[in-house]
Amino acid sequence: MRHLPTRTTRRRAAGALVAGLLAALVPAWPLPAAGAEAPAAVPAVPTAAAAPAPADGLALTPPMGFNNWNSTHCRAEFDEEMVRGIADLFVDKGLKDAGYEYVNLDDCWALPARDANGQLVPDPARFPDGIEAVADYVHARGLKLGIYTSAGTKTCNDAGFPGALGHEYSDARQFADWGVDYLKYDNCNNQGVDAQLRYTTMRDALEAASATTGRPIVYSICEWGENKPWEWAADVGQLWRTTGDISDDWGSMLSIMKQNLPLARYAGPGHWNDPDMLEVGNGGMTDTEYRTHFSMWSVMAAPLLIGSDLRTASDETFDILGNEEVVAVDQDPLGKQGTVLSSEEGRWVVAKEMADGSRAVALFNETSSPRRIATSAKALGLPEADGYTLRDLWRHKSYHTAGTVSATVPAHGTVLVRVSADDRWAGNPPAVELGLDGGTLLEAGRPSALTTSVTDLGRTPAKHVSVSLTGPGGWTVRATSPTGANTLPTGRALRTGWTVTAPAGTPPGAYGLTLRAEYRSVSGARAENVLPLTATVAVAPPAGTSALGDLPRLSATNGWGPVERNTSNGEAAAGDGAPLTVGGVVYATGLGVHAHSAVEFYTGGACGTVTAQVGVDDEEGADGSVVFEIWADGTKAASSGVLTNADAARALSADVGGAQVVRLVVTDAGDGITSDHGDWADARLTC
Ligand code: GLA
Repeated sequence: MRHLPTRTTRRRAAGALVAGLLAALVPAWPLPAAGAEAPAAVPAVPTAAAAPAPADGLALTPPMGFNNWNSTHCRAEFDEEMVRGIADLFVDKGLKDAGYEYVNLDDCWALPARDANGQLVPDPARFPDGIEAVADYVHARGLKLGIYTSAGTKTCNDAGFPGALGHEYSDARQFADWGVDYLKYDNCNNQGVDAQLRYTTMRDALEAASATTGRPIVYSICEWGENKPWEWAADVGQLWRTTGDISDDWGSMLSIMKQNLPLARYAGPGHWNDPDMLEVGNGGMTDTEYRTHFSMWSVMAAPLLIGSDLRTASDETFDILGNEEVVAVDQDPLGKQGTVLSSEEGRWVVAKEMADGSRAVALFNETSSPRRIATSAKALGLPEADGYTLRDLWRHKSYHTAGTVSATVPAHGTVLVRVSADDRWAGNPPAVELGLDGGTLLEAGRPSALTTSVTDLGRTPAKHVSVSLTGPGGWTVRATSPTGANTLPTGRALRTGWTVTAPAGTPPGAYGLTLRAEYRSVSGARAENVLPLTATVAVAPPAGTSALGDLPRLSATNGWGPVERNTSNGEAAAGDGAPLTVGGVVYATGLGVHAHSAVEFYTGGACGTVTAQVGVDDEEGADGSVVFEIWADGTKAASSGVLTNADAARALSADVGGAQVVRLVVTDAGDGITSDHGDWADARLTC
């Protein structure tokens, strides 16, 4: 497909085609739909960007709740029993108390045909008691009900459920009569009608329904950011999607986060950027990645709509979603979306100003190995002070800092803290930063050296400091220098050398190591800090020349679906690529990726060169534009320059001598990831 490759894009492309055909047949709005009662005049289109808090009092903080889509799509388990189960769990598990309020139905709740009066009919298999009964059930628990339809002739599902285009006023009234409190209004099958017109018409219809029934309805605009709703929707809806659909994988979550972050200035009370619903608990990411997802959505003041079936959720999922200190960041009444202070080499500092003057700060590590990420009270815009309270929102512990805010952050992890210039800082122990040099990538049976550090960040010294490093059973971890210090003044570090050995025969993979520092504050209070680390056992690459498509990888991230071996990227599913083809030439081996992509191989200092024929795969339209890069550890060893669909494959080679890790990167060349299917054709590694 030509555009941003999401499921909805394909449908959008088809919709555009239909719109084109219709444009030739149908003179103008309103569309000739049965029961249509669109207003005769075209409503004025608002032009304001960010707006002050609205008088209607709706969504003064980002909406919180549940939506079934990410966990069920249209499968049969989406039914009234699920909705009731979620409402019960909101109450029983304390999620209602934590702020979760809306229980929202997504697509597929209705029958494909309206009734003789043009009214929507709930699917009797899913909702035998009807929507009103479900709304009553949810309301009885002090919660609210949301529903879904599309600003088109049909919703997004292929079964063709009715959309509200041309039925805005009667559908809005029907929703309000049922007791619906929230509408998600999608964009499929929109017949090419102007987006501002379509979304503004429904706003007016909802307002009219509210005026009659007395029921305010939160209005969620879901046109995937296609028409820059942040520029015009502040007084149309309370939230607007900024991107295509999220899926339950790291690459998708990351790409959506990166599209949403630059829009911070448009968000505020009553008008929020919506980077789509949460995937926490759906199984496609690690708990570390889900904590990052939840932390970043909160720092971005995003709507927090749980997307996993809580009836089968793990304790860890409830712990993440129920973390009230993180929720408080999202729900802060000042209503600011966090902004990016720095993002060099995947080390992100994103800070959110809070109503009490403190800053919520996400130290987010995008990379696949631990990274030190640092900022300061000054850079955060806090007033000058001797000390600052530093609250760790995942570990629920308070420390103080003399000004440095820093941590070694595990791969794909986020350290989320709240930093305040208050006079209570001295009552907390000094923060210590745990650090690490080298050594978490090893071969079984071969000792690997690493150095750890414990640094006092506080105004006062850390006393009686001791450090330990522990590995899995059977591993040998030995200190080669002192593991204790009597006192560490501000800025001073205890550095300890270690050798770590995984027993011979340890299968390749990731293994947990734990670095822990215990110490006391000057008053004698005990404190500790813990850094979970991942040691990766890798296999030395074979001597000679190997096809990279066949070698095991250390890690892989991809902008759309998984990285494919020896085929093009294809679509979102694994193994759905086609033969690698650039400029009409077909290649038997290589990697099929999609920007933004990074694929890492262990080379263990034993390899010399990487070669490949690189280019944009022919499987897409003409919009692809990417840059291929080969990295040797932290050094960019080769770059292709910008390549587009018009270019033949380019020969790229790099000297990677001495590198422990080779990383193959494909960027979007700075113009978004549309159609960026990159081929590392004929990619070879010589060792
Ligand atoms: C679109 C929306 C999704 C979901 C589906 C339902 O793709 O963006 O969030 O509502 O439609 O079909």
